[in-house]
Amino acid sequence: RTIESLGSLRSRTVIVRCDLNVPLSDGAIGDDGRIRASLTTIRELREAGARLVLVSHLGRPKGAPEARFSLRPVAERMAELLGAPVGFVGETVGPEAESAVAALADGDVLLLENLRFNPGETSADPAERRAFAGRLAALGDAFVSDGFGVVHRSQASVTELAQLLPSAAGRLVAAELAVLRRLTDEPERPYTVVLGGSKVSDKLGVISHLLERVDTILVGGGMLFTFLAAQGHDVAASLLEEDQLDTVRGYLAEAERRGVRIVLPSDVVVAAAFAPDAAHEVVAADAIASSSFGATGIGLDIGPDSAAEFARRIADSATVFWNGPMGVFEMEAFAHGTRAVAQALADTSAFTVVGGGDSAAAVRALGFADERFGHISTGGGASLEFLEGKPLPGLEVLA
Ligand code: 3PG
Repeated sequence: RTIESLGSLRSRTVIVRCDLNVPLSDGAIGDDGRIRASLTTIRELREAGARLVLVSHLGRPKGAPEARFSLRPVAERMAELLGAPVGFVGETVGPEAESAVAALADGDVLLLENLRFNPGETSADPAERRAFAGRLAALGDAFVSDGFGVVHRSQASVTELAQLLPSAAGRLVAAELAVLRRLTDEPERPYTVVLGGSKVSDKLGVISHLLERVDTILVGGGMLFTFLAAQGHDVAASLLEEDQLDTVRGYLAEAERRGVRIVLPSDVVVAAAFAPDAAHEVVAADAIASSSFGATGIGLDIGPDSAAEFARRIADSATVFWNGPMGVFEMEAFAHGTRAVAQALADTSAFTVVGGGDSAAAVRALGFADERFGHISTGGGASLEFLEGKPLPGLEVLA
Protein backbone atom coordinates (compact mmCIF):
# COMPACT_ATOMS: atom_id res chain seq x y z
CA ARG A 1 0.00 0.00 0.00
CA THR A 2 1.38 3.39 -0.95
CA ILE A 3 0.88 6.73 0.76
CA GLU A 4 -2.02 7.55 -1.61
CA SER A 5 -4.07 4.78 0.03
CA LEU A 6 -4.14 6.82 3.26
CA GLY A 7 -6.31 9.53 1.70
CA SER A 8 -5.99 13.18 2.71
CA LEU A 9 -3.38 13.67 5.40
CA ARG A 10 -4.08 17.33 6.12
CA SER A 11 -4.07 17.96 9.87
CA ARG A 12 -3.64 14.23 10.55
CA THR A 13 -0.82 13.02 12.77
CA VAL A 14 1.29 10.53 10.84
CA ILE A 15 3.82 8.31 12.57
CA VAL A 16 6.74 7.64 10.20
CA ARG A 17 9.08 4.74 10.96
CA CYS A 18 12.46 5.79 9.55
CA ASP A 19 15.81 4.05 9.75
CA LEU A 20 17.96 6.86 11.14
CA ASN A 21 20.54 4.40 12.45
CA VAL A 22 23.60 6.43 11.44
CA PRO A 23 27.18 5.97 12.66
CA LEU A 24 27.73 8.22 15.69
CA SER A 25 30.90 8.82 17.60
CA ASP A 26 30.95 11.24 20.53
CA GLY A 27 27.73 12.77 19.24
CA ALA A 28 29.19 13.42 15.76
CA ILE A 29 27.37 11.84 12.82
CA GLY A 30 29.56 9.98 10.33
CA ASP A 31 27.67 9.09 7.16
CA ASP A 32 24.29 10.88 7.12
CA GLY A 33 23.03 8.96 4.06
CA ARG A 34 20.13 7.41 5.93
CA ILE A 35 18.90 10.82 7.10
CA ARG A 36 19.08 12.17 3.54
CA ALA A 37 17.31 9.12 2.19
CA SER A 38 14.37 9.64 4.56
CA LEU A 39 13.72 13.21 3.40
CA THR A 40 11.65 12.43 0.28
CA THR A 41 8.78 10.99 2.30
CA ILE A 42 9.10 13.62 5.02
CA ARG A 43 8.95 16.49 2.51
CA GLU A 44 5.97 14.98 0.74
CA LEU A 45 4.03 14.45 3.96
CA ARG A 46 4.78 18.01 5.12
CA GLU A 47 3.53 19.37 1.82
CA ALA A 48 0.37 17.32 2.25
CA GLY A 49 -0.23 19.16 5.54
CA ALA A 50 0.41 16.18 7.81
CA ARG A 51 1.80 16.51 11.34
CA LEU A 52 4.84 14.24 11.43
CA VAL A 53 5.99 12.08 14.32
CA LEU A 54 9.22 10.35 13.32
CA VAL A 55 10.38 7.22 15.11
CA SER A 56 13.62 5.26 14.67
CA HIS A 57 16.17 3.10 16.41
CA LEU A 58 19.86 3.90 16.66
CA GLY A 59 22.38 1.21 17.52
CA ARG A 60 21.44 -1.70 19.71
CA PRO A 61 20.68 -0.42 23.23
CA LYS A 62 19.16 -3.11 25.43
CA GLY A 63 15.71 -1.70 26.22
CA ALA A 64 16.91 1.17 28.44
CA PRO A 65 18.17 4.70 27.75
CA GLU A 66 21.88 5.12 26.96
CA ALA A 67 23.09 8.64 26.21
CA ARG A 68 25.44 7.50 23.43
CA PHE A 69 22.49 6.13 21.46
CA SER A 70 20.32 9.26 21.70
CA LEU A 71 18.73 10.47 18.45
CA ARG A 72 19.10 14.13 19.48
CA PRO A 73 22.07 14.79 17.11
CA VAL A 74 20.03 13.23 14.29
CA ALA A 75 17.19 15.75 14.86
CA GLU A 76 19.71 18.57 14.54
CA ARG A 77 21.23 17.23 11.31
CA MET A 78 17.81 16.53 9.86
CA ALA A 79 16.72 20.11 10.53
CA GLU A 80 19.77 21.37 8.60
CA LEU A 81 19.11 19.04 5.67
CA LEU A 82 15.36 19.69 5.63
CA GLY A 83 15.75 23.44 6.01
CA ALA A 84 12.96 23.40 8.61
CA PRO A 85 12.79 22.87 12.37
CA VAL A 86 12.73 19.28 13.66
CA GLY A 87 11.50 19.06 17.24
CA PHE A 88 12.90 16.43 19.58
CA VAL A 89 11.69 14.90 22.83
CA GLY A 90 13.86 12.74 25.05
CA GLU A 91 11.34 9.87 25.33
CA THR A 92 9.42 7.71 22.88
CA VAL A 93 6.18 7.33 24.80
CA GLY A 94 5.02 9.15 27.94
CA PRO A 95 3.59 12.53 28.95
CA GLU A 96 6.37 14.60 27.39
CA ALA A 97 5.99 12.84 24.03
CA GLU A 98 2.20 13.17 24.20
CA SER A 99 2.24 16.92 24.84
CA ALA A 100 4.85 17.49 22.10
CA VAL A 101 2.67 15.56 19.64
CA ALA A 102 -0.46 17.44 20.73
CA ALA A 103 1.32 20.76 20.09
CA LEU A 104 2.17 19.92 16.45
CA ALA A 105 0.75 22.15 13.72
CA ASP A 106 0.24 21.08 10.08
CA GLY A 107 3.65 20.46 8.43
CA ASP A 108 5.54 20.28 11.74
CA VAL A 109 8.11 17.53 12.30
CA LEU A 110 8.90 15.91 15.65
CA LEU A 111 11.47 13.16 16.25
CA LEU A 112 10.95 10.94 19.28
CA GLU A 113 13.80 9.35 21.24
CA ASN A 114 15.33 5.98 20.28
CA LEU A 115 12.65 3.26 20.08
CA ARG A 116 15.06 0.67 21.48
CA PHE A 117 15.26 2.49 24.82
CA ASN A 118 11.93 0.68 25.43
CA PRO A 119 12.06 -3.09 26.08
CA GLY A 120 8.79 -3.61 24.17
CA GLU A 121 10.33 -2.58 20.83
CA THR A 122 12.57 -5.61 20.39
CA SER A 123 10.94 -8.00 22.87
CA ALA A 124 10.75 -11.64 21.81
CA ASP A 125 7.29 -11.74 23.39
CA PRO A 126 4.65 -10.63 20.85
CA ALA A 127 2.33 -9.47 23.66
CA GLU A 128 4.99 -7.05 24.93
CA ARG A 129 5.60 -5.79 21.41
CA ARG A 130 1.87 -5.29 20.90
CA ALA A 131 1.57 -3.39 24.16
CA PHE A 132 4.39 -1.02 23.19
CA ALA A 133 3.02 -0.63 19.65
CA GLY A 134 -0.34 0.28 21.20
CA ARG A 135 1.28 3.16 23.10
CA LEU A 136 2.94 4.34 19.90
CA ALA A 137 -0.26 4.02 17.88
CA ALA A 138 -2.07 6.22 20.42
CA LEU A 139 0.17 9.09 19.30
CA GLY A 140 -1.04 9.16 15.68
CA ASP A 141 -3.81 8.68 13.13
CA ALA A 142 -1.86 6.87 10.40
CA PHE A 143 1.44 5.03 9.94
CA VAL A 144 4.02 5.23 7.16
CA SER A 145 6.69 2.55 7.13
CA ASP A 146 9.81 4.01 5.54
CA GLY A 147 12.67 2.39 7.45
CA PHE A 148 13.83 0.07 4.70
CA GLY A 149 16.87 -0.99 6.79
CA VAL A 150 14.57 -2.63 9.37
CA VAL A 151 11.86 -4.27 7.26
CA HIS A 152 13.52 -7.64 7.94
CA ARG A 153 12.97 -7.22 11.70
CA SER A 154 9.85 -8.33 13.62
CA GLN A 155 9.82 -5.38 15.98
CA ALA A 156 6.98 -3.37 17.49
CA SER A 157 7.43 -0.24 15.35
CA VAL A 158 7.90 -2.29 12.17
CA THR A 159 5.26 -5.00 12.33
CA GLU A 160 2.77 -4.57 15.23
CA LEU A 161 2.35 -0.81 14.78
CA ALA A 162 1.40 -1.30 11.11
CA GLN A 163 -1.48 -3.49 12.22
CA LEU A 164 -2.90 -0.90 14.60
CA LEU A 165 -3.22 2.13 12.30
CA PRO A 166 -4.06 2.74 8.63
CA SER A 167 -0.62 1.99 7.15
CA ALA A 168 1.37 2.41 3.97
CA ALA A 169 4.90 2.04 2.64
CA GLY A 170 6.88 5.27 2.33
CA ARG A 171 8.73 6.43 -0.78
CA LEU A 172 12.11 5.11 0.35
CA VAL A 173 10.77 1.61 0.92
CA ALA A 174 9.05 1.72 -2.48
CA ALA A 175 12.19 2.98 -4.25
CA GLU A 176 14.43 0.37 -2.61
CA LEU A 177 12.06 -2.41 -3.61
CA ALA A 178 11.88 -1.23 -7.20
CA VAL A 179 15.67 -1.36 -7.47
CA LEU A 180 16.13 -4.69 -5.71
CA ARG A 181 13.45 -6.25 -7.91
CA ARG A 182 15.60 -5.36 -10.91
CA LEU A 183 18.25 -7.63 -9.38
CA THR A 184 15.93 -10.53 -8.71
CA ASP A 185 13.68 -10.37 -11.81
CA GLU A 186 15.71 -11.06 -14.93
CA PRO A 187 18.85 -8.99 -14.26
CA GLU A 188 20.81 -8.11 -17.37
CA ARG A 189 23.77 -10.50 -17.83
CA PRO A 190 26.59 -10.86 -17.10
CA TYR A 191 25.55 -10.38 -13.47
CA THR A 192 28.43 -10.00 -11.03
CA VAL A 193 28.18 -9.83 -7.25
CA VAL A 194 31.02 -8.46 -5.14
CA LEU A 195 30.90 -9.76 -1.59
CA GLY A 196 33.07 -8.59 1.28
CA GLY A 197 32.74 -7.76 4.94
CA SER A 198 34.17 -9.64 7.81
CA LYS A 199 32.04 -12.72 8.27
CA VAL A 200 31.04 -15.38 5.81
CA SER A 201 28.45 -16.58 8.36
CA ASP A 202 26.46 -13.35 7.74
CA LYS A 203 26.31 -14.10 4.02
CA LEU A 204 25.53 -17.81 3.91
CA GLY A 205 21.90 -17.45 2.86
CA VAL A 206 22.64 -14.93 0.18
CA ILE A 207 25.55 -16.89 -1.29
CA SER A 208 23.56 -20.08 -1.69
CA HIS A 209 20.70 -18.12 -3.25
CA LEU A 210 23.01 -16.16 -5.58
CA LEU A 211 24.62 -19.33 -6.87
CA GLU A 212 21.37 -19.97 -8.73
CA ARG A 213 21.25 -16.53 -10.32
CA VAL A 214 24.59 -14.90 -10.99
CA ASP A 215 27.50 -15.41 -13.36
CA THR A 216 30.37 -14.33 -11.12
CA ILE A 217 30.97 -13.77 -7.41
CA LEU A 218 34.07 -11.78 -6.43
CA VAL A 219 35.06 -12.47 -2.83
CA GLY A 220 37.01 -9.98 -0.68
CA GLY A 221 36.96 -8.66 2.89
CA GLY A 222 37.58 -10.70 6.01
CA MET A 223 35.42 -13.53 4.68
CA LEU A 224 37.88 -14.30 1.89
CA PHE A 225 40.24 -15.99 4.36
CA THR A 226 37.67 -18.64 5.19
CA PHE A 227 37.42 -19.30 1.43
CA LEU A 228 41.21 -19.54 1.12
CA ALA A 229 41.38 -21.87 4.13
CA ALA A 230 38.62 -24.00 2.59
CA GLN A 231 40.93 -24.45 -0.40
CA GLY A 232 43.63 -25.71 1.95
CA HIS A 233 45.73 -22.54 2.33
CA ASP A 234 47.29 -21.42 5.61
CA VAL A 235 45.89 -17.94 6.38
CA ALA A 236 48.14 -17.31 9.44
CA ALA A 237 46.36 -15.02 11.95
CA SER A 238 43.76 -13.70 9.46
CA LEU A 239 40.07 -13.84 10.33
CA LEU A 240 38.90 -17.42 9.96
CA GLU A 241 35.55 -19.03 10.71
CA GLU A 242 36.56 -22.66 11.13
CA ASP A 243 32.98 -23.79 11.62
CA GLN A 244 32.12 -22.52 8.11
CA LEU A 245 34.85 -24.38 6.23
CA ASP A 246 32.64 -27.27 5.18
CA THR A 247 29.84 -24.96 4.08
CA VAL A 248 32.26 -22.90 2.01
CA ARG A 249 33.68 -26.03 0.40
CA GLY A 250 30.11 -26.96 -0.48
CA TYR A 251 29.62 -23.55 -2.15
CA LEU A 252 32.81 -23.90 -4.16
CA ALA A 253 31.70 -27.32 -5.41
CA GLU A 254 28.17 -26.09 -6.13
CA ALA A 255 29.51 -23.08 -8.05
CA GLU A 256 31.63 -25.36 -10.19
CA ARG A 257 28.65 -27.59 -10.94
CA ARG A 258 26.53 -24.60 -11.95
CA GLY A 259 29.24 -22.87 -13.96
CA VAL A 260 29.27 -19.85 -11.61
CA ARG A 261 32.73 -18.30 -11.24
CA ILE A 262 33.72 -17.64 -7.63
CA VAL A 263 36.79 -15.44 -7.95
CA LEU A 264 39.11 -15.29 -4.96
CA PRO A 265 41.96 -12.78 -4.76
CA SER A 266 45.33 -13.94 -6.09
CA ASP A 267 47.18 -11.59 -3.74
CA VAL A 268 46.46 -10.00 -0.35
CA VAL A 269 47.88 -7.30 1.91
CA VAL A 270 49.21 -8.87 5.10
CA ALA A 271 49.97 -6.75 8.18
CA ALA A 272 51.93 -7.28 11.38
CA ALA A 273 48.93 -6.12 13.44
CA PHE A 274 45.40 -4.71 13.15
CA ALA A 275 46.49 -1.08 13.29
CA PRO A 276 46.59 1.84 10.82
CA ASP A 277 50.38 2.15 11.00
CA ALA A 278 51.18 -1.58 11.12
CA ALA A 279 54.01 -2.85 8.88
CA HIS A 280 52.49 -4.60 5.87
CA GLU A 281 53.34 -6.26 2.58
CA VAL A 282 51.66 -7.81 -0.45
CA VAL A 283 51.92 -11.59 -0.77
CA ALA A 284 50.33 -14.24 -2.95
CA ALA A 285 47.03 -15.45 -1.50
CA ASP A 286 48.42 -18.98 -1.16
CA ALA A 287 51.53 -17.77 0.69
CA ILE A 288 50.11 -15.71 3.56
CA ALA A 289 51.97 -17.76 6.18
CA SER A 290 55.26 -17.07 4.36
CA SER A 291 55.05 -13.26 4.78
CA SER A 292 57.69 -11.57 6.97
CA PHE A 293 55.17 -11.74 9.82
CA GLY A 294 54.91 -15.53 9.71
CA ALA A 295 52.10 -17.08 11.71
CA THR A 296 51.12 -13.72 13.23
CA GLY A 297 50.43 -11.99 9.89
CA ILE A 298 46.86 -10.73 9.40
CA GLY A 299 45.32 -10.24 5.97
CA LEU A 300 43.64 -6.81 5.91
CA ASP A 301 42.95 -6.11 2.22
CA ILE A 302 42.93 -7.71 -1.21
CA GLY A 303 46.18 -7.09 -3.10
CA PRO A 304 46.72 -4.76 -6.09
CA ASP A 305 46.63 -7.52 -8.74
CA SER A 306 43.32 -8.79 -7.34
CA ALA A 307 41.91 -5.26 -7.14
CA ALA A 308 42.79 -4.78 -10.83
CA GLU A 309 41.24 -8.11 -11.75
CA PHE A 310 38.04 -7.37 -9.78
CA ALA A 311 37.83 -3.98 -11.53
CA ARG A 312 38.20 -5.68 -14.94
CA ARG A 313 35.46 -8.16 -14.18
CA ILE A 314 33.16 -5.39 -12.96
CA ALA A 315 33.83 -3.46 -16.18
CA ASP A 316 32.78 -6.52 -18.19
CA SER A 317 29.43 -6.89 -16.36
CA ALA A 318 25.96 -5.55 -17.16
CA THR A 319 24.65 -5.77 -13.58
CA VAL A 320 26.71 -5.47 -10.40
CA PHE A 321 25.61 -5.79 -6.78
CA TRP A 322 28.19 -4.98 -4.12
CA ASN A 323 27.90 -5.75 -0.42
CA GLY A 324 30.77 -5.44 2.04
CA PRO A 325 34.15 -3.69 1.97
CA MET A 326 37.17 -5.49 0.47
CA GLY A 327 39.45 -4.60 3.37
CA VAL A 328 39.76 -2.40 6.43
CA PHE A 329 38.97 0.73 4.40
CA GLU A 330 38.87 2.92 7.54
CA MET A 331 42.70 2.57 7.61
CA GLU A 332 44.31 4.16 4.54
CA ALA A 333 46.95 1.42 4.22
CA PHE A 334 44.19 -1.16 3.73
CA ALA A 335 41.67 0.89 1.70
CA HIS A 336 43.03 0.20 -1.79
CA GLY A 337 40.87 -2.82 -2.61
CA THR A 338 37.64 -1.14 -1.52
CA ARG A 339 38.58 2.04 -3.41
CA ALA A 340 39.33 0.05 -6.59
CA VAL A 341 35.99 -1.72 -6.46
CA ALA A 342 34.15 1.55 -5.77
CA GLN A 343 35.99 3.20 -8.68
CA ALA A 344 35.12 0.34 -11.02
CA LEU A 345 31.44 0.58 -10.05
CA ALA A 346 31.51 4.35 -10.45
CA ASP A 347 33.12 4.09 -13.92
CA THR A 348 30.93 1.42 -15.48
CA SER A 349 27.71 2.04 -17.38
CA ALA A 350 26.33 -1.22 -15.93
CA PHE A 351 23.39 -1.15 -13.50
CA THR A 352 25.12 -0.95 -10.10
CA VAL A 353 23.70 -1.37 -6.62
CA VAL A 354 25.69 -0.79 -3.46
CA GLY A 355 23.97 -2.56 -0.59
CA GLY A 356 24.64 -2.34 3.09
CA GLY A 357 25.54 0.25 5.67
CA ASP A 358 29.26 -0.53 5.57
CA SER A 359 29.64 -0.42 1.80
CA ALA A 360 27.58 2.77 1.59
CA ALA A 361 29.70 4.36 4.31
CA ALA A 362 32.84 3.15 2.50
CA VAL A 363 32.01 4.73 -0.85
CA ARG A 364 31.13 8.03 0.79
CA ALA A 365 34.15 7.97 3.14
CA LEU A 366 36.37 7.38 0.10
CA GLY A 367 34.90 10.46 -1.54
CA PHE A 368 32.59 8.99 -4.19
CA ALA A 369 29.38 10.92 -4.87
CA ASP A 370 26.15 8.91 -4.57
CA GLU A 371 25.25 9.81 -8.17
CA ARG A 372 28.15 7.68 -9.47
CA PHE A 373 26.18 4.54 -8.57
CA GLY A 374 22.88 3.22 -9.88
CA HIS A 375 21.58 2.94 -6.34
CA ILE A 376 23.00 2.96 -2.82
CA SER A 377 20.72 0.92 -0.61
CA THR A 378 20.06 2.08 2.94
CA GLY A 379 19.54 -1.52 4.01
CA GLY A 380 22.32 -3.96 4.82
CA GLY A 381 20.65 -7.04 6.30
CA ALA A 382 17.33 -6.05 4.69
CA SER A 383 18.71 -5.94 1.14
CA LEU A 384 20.53 -9.24 1.61
CA GLU A 385 17.42 -10.93 2.97
CA PHE A 386 15.41 -9.55 0.06
CA LEU A 387 17.93 -11.00 -2.41
CA GLU A 388 17.79 -14.29 -0.51
CA GLY A 389 14.08 -14.35 -1.27
CA LYS A 390 13.14 -14.40 2.42
CA PRO A 391 9.79 -12.95 3.45
CA LEU A 392 10.32 -9.53 5.07
CA PRO A 393 7.90 -9.10 8.00
CA GLY A 394 7.81 -5.30 7.71
CA LEU A 395 6.62 -5.59 4.10
CA GLU A 396 4.25 -8.48 4.61
CA VAL A 397 2.15 -6.42 7.05
CA LEU A 398 1.71 -3.73 4.39
CA ALA A 399 0.59 -6.11 1.65
C1 3PG B 1 20.98 -1.68 9.93
O1 3PG B 1 21.90 -0.96 10.35
O2 3PG B 1 21.17 -2.63 9.13
C2 3PG B 1 19.58 -1.35 10.32
O3 3PG B 1 19.48 -0.09 10.90
C3 3PG B 1 19.04 -2.43 11.22
O4 3PG B 1 19.72 -2.41 12.44
P1 3PG B 1 19.76 -3.74 13.35
O5 3PG B 1 20.61 -4.71 12.58
O6 3PG B 1 20.37 -3.31 14.65
O7 3PG B 1 18.36 -4.23 13.50
